[in-house]
Amino acid sequence: MALKCFDFRPGDEVIVPSNTYIATILSIVQNGLTPVLVEPDITTYNIDPTLIEEKITSRTRAIMVVHLYGKACDMDPVLQVASRYNLKVIEDCAQAHGARYKGRLAGNFGDFGAFSFYPTKNLGALGDAGAITTNDEQLSDNIRTLRNYGSKVKYVNEMVGYNSRLDEVQAGFLSLKLKHLDEINTHKRKLASYYLQELKSDFVVPKVDPDYFDVYHIFNIRHPRRDQLRDYLLKNGVKTEIHYPVAPHNQGAMKGLISGDYPISTEIHSTTLSLPISYFHTEDDILRVVKVLNKF
Ligand SMILES: Cc1ncc(COP(=O)(O)O)c(C=O)c1O
Repeated sequence: MALKCFDFRPGDEVIVPSNTYIATILSIVQNGLTPVLVEPDITTYNIDPTLIEEKITSRTRAIMVVHLYGKACDMDPVLQVASRYNLKVIEDCAQAHGARYKGRLAGNFGDFGAFSFYPTKNLGALGDAGAITTNDEQLSDNIRTLRNYGSKVKYVNEMVGYNSRLDEVQAGFLSLKLKHLDEINTHKRKLASYYLQELKSDFVVPKVDPDYFDVYHIFNIRHPRRDQLRDYLLKNGVKTEIHYPVAPHNQGAMKGLISGDYPISTEIHSTTLSLPISYFHTEDDILRVVKVLNKF
Protein backbone atom coordinates (compact mmCIF):
# COMPACT_ATOMS: atom_id res chain seq x y z
CA MET A 1 0.00 0.00 0.00
CA ALA A 2 2.93 2.31 0.73
CA LEU A 3 4.22 1.75 -2.82
CA LYS A 4 0.73 2.55 -4.18
CA CYS A 5 0.91 6.06 -2.73
CA PHE A 6 3.50 7.22 -5.24
CA ASP A 7 3.23 7.89 -8.91
CA PHE A 8 5.29 4.87 -9.95
CA ARG A 9 4.88 3.29 -13.40
CA PRO A 10 4.87 -0.44 -14.21
CA GLY A 11 8.45 -1.66 -14.44
CA ASP A 12 9.88 1.10 -12.28
CA GLU A 13 12.60 -0.27 -10.04
CA VAL A 14 12.74 -0.59 -6.28
CA ILE A 15 16.01 -1.43 -4.54
CA VAL A 16 15.63 -4.10 -1.87
CA PRO A 17 18.06 -6.30 0.10
CA SER A 18 18.68 -9.80 -1.23
CA ASN A 19 18.59 -11.07 2.36
CA THR A 20 15.01 -10.69 3.51
CA TYR A 21 11.77 -12.56 3.95
CA ILE A 22 10.11 -12.92 0.57
CA ALA A 23 7.13 -10.76 1.68
CA THR A 24 9.26 -7.63 1.19
CA ILE A 25 9.93 -8.52 -2.43
CA LEU A 26 6.37 -9.71 -3.08
CA SER A 27 5.09 -6.24 -2.18
CA ILE A 28 7.20 -4.80 -4.99
CA VAL A 29 6.20 -7.43 -7.55
CA GLN A 30 2.50 -7.20 -6.59
CA ASN A 31 2.65 -3.50 -7.44
CA GLY A 32 3.92 -4.23 -10.97
CA LEU A 33 7.35 -2.88 -10.01
CA THR A 34 10.74 -4.48 -10.53
CA PRO A 35 12.79 -5.59 -7.51
CA VAL A 36 16.51 -4.84 -7.80
CA LEU A 37 18.42 -6.81 -5.21
CA VAL A 38 21.38 -5.47 -3.26
CA GLU A 39 23.55 -7.74 -1.15
CA PRO A 40 23.69 -7.39 2.66
CA ASP A 41 26.61 -6.58 4.90
CA ILE A 42 27.72 -9.98 6.25
CA THR A 43 28.19 -8.53 9.75
CA THR A 44 24.76 -6.85 10.13
CA TYR A 45 22.72 -8.98 7.66
CA ASN A 46 21.10 -5.74 6.49
CA ILE A 47 21.47 -3.99 3.14
CA ASP A 48 25.03 -2.85 2.44
CA PRO A 49 24.63 0.88 1.73
CA THR A 50 27.92 1.00 -0.20
CA LEU A 51 26.44 -1.32 -2.86
CA ILE A 52 23.25 0.65 -3.54
CA GLU A 53 24.53 3.34 -5.89
CA GLU A 54 25.83 0.92 -8.55
CA LYS A 55 22.29 -0.56 -8.85
CA ILE A 56 20.59 2.78 -9.50
CA THR A 57 19.27 3.35 -13.04
CA SER A 58 17.02 5.95 -14.67
CA ARG A 59 14.05 3.77 -13.60
CA THR A 60 14.92 3.52 -9.91
CA ARG A 61 12.20 5.12 -7.78
CA ALA A 62 12.65 3.83 -4.25
CA ILE A 63 14.81 2.01 -1.75
CA MET A 64 13.02 -0.47 0.50
CA VAL A 65 15.22 -1.31 3.46
CA VAL A 66 14.54 -4.14 5.91
CA HIS A 67 15.55 -3.90 9.57
CA LEU A 68 16.13 -7.63 9.77
CA TYR A 69 16.11 -9.71 12.97
CA GLY A 70 15.45 -6.57 15.05
CA LYS A 71 18.54 -4.60 14.04
CA ALA A 72 18.01 -1.27 12.31
CA CYS A 73 19.83 -0.61 9.03
CA ASP A 74 22.73 1.80 8.68
CA MET A 75 20.33 4.59 7.71
CA ASP A 76 22.63 7.63 7.28
CA PRO A 77 24.26 6.43 4.04
CA VAL A 78 20.93 5.01 2.78
CA LEU A 79 19.21 8.38 3.26
CA GLN A 80 22.15 10.20 1.66
CA VAL A 81 22.03 8.13 -1.52
CA ALA A 82 18.20 8.37 -1.61
CA SER A 83 18.35 12.13 -1.37
CA ARG A 84 21.08 12.38 -4.02
CA TYR A 85 18.95 10.42 -6.53
CA ASN A 86 15.56 11.67 -5.32
CA LEU A 87 14.35 8.22 -4.30
CA LYS A 88 11.57 7.36 -1.88
CA VAL A 89 12.54 5.33 1.18
CA ILE A 90 10.30 2.65 2.65
CA GLU A 91 11.30 0.73 5.75
CA ASP A 92 10.20 -2.84 6.32
CA CYS A 93 9.89 -2.78 10.12
CA ALA A 94 8.19 -6.18 10.40
CA GLN A 95 10.95 -7.38 12.76
CA ALA A 96 11.98 -4.09 14.32
CA HIS A 97 9.39 -2.77 16.77
CA GLY A 98 11.35 -0.47 19.06
CA ALA A 99 14.72 -0.93 17.30
CA ARG A 100 16.82 2.24 17.07
CA TYR A 101 19.64 3.64 14.98
CA LYS A 102 21.58 6.51 16.53
CA GLY A 103 18.73 6.97 19.01
CA ARG A 104 15.98 7.18 16.41
CA LEU A 105 13.24 4.56 16.11
CA ALA A 106 12.89 2.32 13.06
CA GLY A 107 9.87 3.38 11.03
CA ASN A 108 10.79 7.02 11.46
CA PHE A 109 13.46 7.53 8.79
CA GLY A 110 11.83 7.01 5.43
CA ASP A 111 8.63 8.10 3.72
CA PHE A 112 6.89 5.07 5.20
CA GLY A 113 7.55 2.34 7.75
CA ALA A 114 5.60 -0.91 7.42
CA PHE A 115 5.04 -2.98 10.57
CA SER A 116 3.77 -6.53 10.92
CA PHE A 117 1.92 -7.58 14.05
CA TYR A 118 1.93 -11.27 13.16
CA PRO A 119 1.62 -13.12 16.51
CA THR A 120 5.31 -14.09 16.75
CA LYS A 121 6.56 -10.51 16.35
CA ASN A 122 7.87 -8.52 19.34
CA LEU A 123 4.55 -6.68 19.17
CA GLY A 124 2.22 -9.43 18.02
CA ALA A 125 -1.56 -9.45 17.65
CA LEU A 126 -3.95 -12.37 18.20
CA GLY A 127 -3.89 -12.97 14.46
CA ASP A 128 -2.69 -11.16 11.37
CA ALA A 129 -2.40 -7.40 11.66
CA GLY A 130 -0.11 -4.59 10.57
CA ALA A 131 0.35 -0.82 10.41
CA ILE A 132 2.08 1.80 8.36
CA THR A 133 3.85 4.83 9.82
CA THR A 134 4.70 8.12 8.14
CA ASN A 135 5.65 11.62 9.24
CA ASP A 136 4.07 13.15 6.11
CA GLU A 137 0.50 14.49 6.41
CA GLN A 138 -0.32 14.01 2.74
CA LEU A 139 0.98 10.44 2.65
CA SER A 140 -0.91 9.70 5.86
CA ASP A 141 -4.10 10.96 4.24
CA ASN A 142 -3.43 8.86 1.11
CA ILE A 143 -2.81 5.67 3.02
CA ARG A 144 -5.88 6.12 5.26
CA THR A 145 -7.97 6.58 2.13
CA LEU A 146 -6.42 3.60 0.31
CA ARG A 147 -7.06 1.20 3.19
CA ASN A 148 -10.78 2.08 3.14
CA TYR A 149 -11.71 1.34 -0.49
CA GLY A 150 -10.14 4.64 -1.53
CA SER A 151 -12.86 6.50 0.34
CA LYS A 152 -12.75 9.32 2.89
CA VAL A 153 -16.44 10.11 2.75
CA LYS A 154 -18.85 7.18 2.81
CA TYR A 155 -19.71 6.01 -0.72
CA VAL A 156 -17.41 8.57 -2.32
CA ASN A 157 -14.43 6.71 -3.81
CA GLU A 158 -11.56 8.84 -5.01
CA MET A 159 -8.85 6.16 -5.28
CA VAL A 160 -8.68 2.50 -6.32
CA GLY A 161 -8.37 1.29 -2.74
CA TYR A 162 -8.64 -1.84 -0.66
CA ASN A 163 -10.32 -3.16 2.42
CA SER A 164 -7.25 -3.19 4.64
CA ARG A 165 -8.49 -1.76 7.91
CA LEU A 166 -7.03 -3.05 11.16
CA ASP A 167 -9.68 -5.11 12.92
CA GLU A 168 -10.88 -3.34 16.10
CA VAL A 169 -10.38 -6.41 18.30
CA GLN A 170 -6.76 -6.68 17.17
CA ALA A 171 -6.30 -2.91 17.55
CA GLY A 172 -7.65 -3.03 21.11
CA PHE A 173 -5.38 -5.91 22.03
CA LEU A 174 -2.35 -4.25 20.41
CA SER A 175 -3.02 -0.95 22.22
CA LEU A 176 -2.77 -2.79 25.53
CA LYS A 177 0.28 -4.78 24.50
CA LEU A 178 2.06 -1.71 23.11
CA LYS A 179 2.39 -0.47 26.69
CA HIS A 180 4.51 -3.57 27.38
CA LEU A 181 6.69 -3.40 24.26
CA ASP A 182 9.64 -1.82 26.09
CA GLU A 183 9.43 -4.51 28.77
CA ILE A 184 9.32 -7.25 26.10
CA ASN A 185 12.31 -5.74 24.28
CA THR A 186 14.26 -5.27 27.52
CA HIS A 187 13.71 -8.91 28.39
CA LYS A 188 14.80 -10.12 24.95
CA ARG A 189 17.89 -7.88 25.07
CA LYS A 190 18.79 -9.39 28.44
CA LEU A 191 18.42 -12.94 27.10
CA ALA A 192 20.52 -11.95 24.07
CA SER A 193 23.23 -10.66 26.37
CA TYR A 194 23.54 -14.16 27.93
CA TYR A 195 24.04 -15.71 24.51
CA LEU A 196 26.54 -12.99 23.59
CA GLN A 197 28.53 -13.46 26.79
CA GLU A 198 28.37 -17.22 27.14
CA LEU A 199 28.52 -18.78 23.67
CA LYS A 200 31.91 -20.15 22.62
CA SER A 201 33.66 -18.48 19.71
CA ASP A 202 32.83 -21.26 17.18
CA PHE A 203 29.52 -19.51 16.58
CA VAL A 204 29.20 -16.22 14.74
CA VAL A 205 26.96 -14.10 16.96
CA PRO A 206 25.13 -10.86 16.05
CA LYS A 207 27.25 -7.74 15.98
CA VAL A 208 26.79 -5.30 18.85
CA ASP A 209 27.41 -1.63 18.13
CA PRO A 210 26.55 1.37 20.35
CA ASP A 211 24.85 3.11 17.41
CA TYR A 212 22.27 0.34 17.25
CA PHE A 213 19.60 -0.57 19.79
CA ASP A 214 18.73 -4.13 18.76
CA VAL A 215 15.46 -5.76 19.83
CA TYR A 216 16.30 -9.34 18.78
CA HIS A 217 13.05 -10.33 17.16
CA ILE A 218 15.36 -13.18 16.14
CA PHE A 219 18.66 -14.12 17.76
CA ASN A 220 20.64 -15.79 15.01
CA ILE A 221 24.02 -17.42 15.01
CA ARG A 222 25.92 -18.74 12.03
CA HIS A 223 27.83 -21.99 11.73
CA PRO A 224 29.26 -23.81 8.68
CA ARG A 225 27.62 -27.10 9.77
CA ARG A 226 24.28 -25.47 10.49
CA ASP A 227 22.05 -28.43 9.59
CA GLN A 228 24.08 -30.84 11.70
CA LEU A 229 24.02 -28.35 14.56
CA ARG A 230 20.25 -28.03 14.24
CA ASP A 231 19.76 -31.83 14.40
CA TYR A 232 22.10 -32.06 17.39
CA LEU A 233 20.17 -29.35 19.23
CA LEU A 234 16.82 -30.98 18.53
CA LYS A 235 18.10 -34.33 19.85
CA ASN A 236 19.07 -32.46 23.01
CA GLY A 237 15.65 -30.87 23.43
CA VAL A 238 16.36 -27.48 21.83
CA LYS A 239 14.11 -26.48 18.96
CA THR A 240 15.48 -23.91 16.56
CA GLU A 241 14.30 -22.22 13.37
CA ILE A 242 15.97 -21.01 10.19
CA HIS A 243 15.27 -17.48 8.97
CA TYR A 244 15.33 -18.32 6.14
CA PRO A 245 16.23 -21.66 4.56
CA VAL A 246 15.88 -20.49 0.92
CA ALA A 247 16.99 -17.08 -0.32
CA PRO A 248 14.32 -15.12 -2.22
CA HIS A 249 16.32 -15.23 -5.47
CA ASN A 250 16.24 -19.06 -5.29
CA GLN A 251 12.48 -19.32 -4.79
CA GLY A 252 10.42 -20.72 -7.65
CA ALA A 253 8.02 -17.77 -7.41
CA MET A 254 10.84 -15.41 -8.34
CA LYS A 255 11.77 -17.25 -11.55
CA GLY A 256 12.08 -14.70 -14.33
CA LEU A 257 11.65 -11.83 -11.85
CA ILE A 258 15.11 -11.84 -10.27
CA SER A 259 18.35 -12.58 -12.03
CA GLY A 260 21.97 -12.72 -10.91
CA ASP A 261 23.90 -14.35 -8.11
CA TYR A 262 23.77 -13.22 -4.52
CA PRO A 263 26.58 -15.12 -2.79
CA ILE A 264 26.47 -13.21 0.51
CA SER A 265 22.76 -13.77 0.86
CA THR A 266 23.16 -17.43 -0.11
CA GLU A 267 25.93 -17.81 2.49
CA ILE A 268 23.70 -16.35 5.21
CA HIS A 269 20.77 -18.55 4.23
CA SER A 270 22.92 -21.69 4.37
CA THR A 271 24.60 -20.97 7.72
CA THR A 272 22.10 -19.07 9.85
CA LEU A 273 20.25 -20.60 12.79
CA SER A 274 17.73 -18.85 15.04
CA LEU A 275 18.03 -19.72 18.73
CA PRO A 276 15.17 -19.69 21.25
CA ILE A 277 14.42 -16.16 22.44
CA SER A 278 11.04 -14.88 23.54
CA TYR A 279 9.37 -13.01 26.37
CA PHE A 280 8.45 -16.39 27.88
CA HIS A 281 12.00 -17.72 28.06
CA THR A 282 13.92 -17.31 31.31
CA GLU A 283 17.60 -16.76 31.99
CA ASP A 284 17.84 -20.45 32.99
CA ASP A 285 16.31 -21.56 29.68
CA ILE A 286 18.91 -19.61 27.75
CA LEU A 287 21.80 -20.84 29.90
CA ARG A 288 20.63 -24.40 29.32
CA VAL A 289 20.63 -23.83 25.55
CA VAL A 290 24.11 -22.30 25.82
CA LYS A 291 25.37 -25.35 27.69
CA VAL A 292 24.14 -27.69 24.95
CA LEU A 293 25.51 -25.42 22.20
CA ASN A 294 28.94 -25.13 23.77
CA LYS A 295 29.25 -28.93 23.75
CA PHE A 296 28.82 -29.10 19.95
C1 LIG B 1 10.88 -8.87 7.04
C2 LIG B 1 9.40 -9.13 6.87
N1 LIG B 1 8.70 -8.38 6.01
C3 LIG B 1 7.38 -8.55 5.84
C4 LIG B 1 6.69 -9.50 6.54
C5 LIG B 1 5.23 -9.65 6.29
O1 LIG B 1 4.46 -9.36 7.38
P1 LIG B 1 2.92 -9.79 7.39
O2 LIG B 1 2.90 -11.29 7.38
O3 LIG B 1 2.35 -9.22 8.63
O4 LIG B 1 2.32 -9.23 6.15
C6 LIG B 1 7.35 -10.31 7.45
C7 LIG B 1 6.61 -11.33 8.19
O5 LIG B 1 7.06 -12.27 8.72
C8 LIG B 1 8.76 -10.12 7.63
O6 LIG B 1 9.45 -10.86 8.50
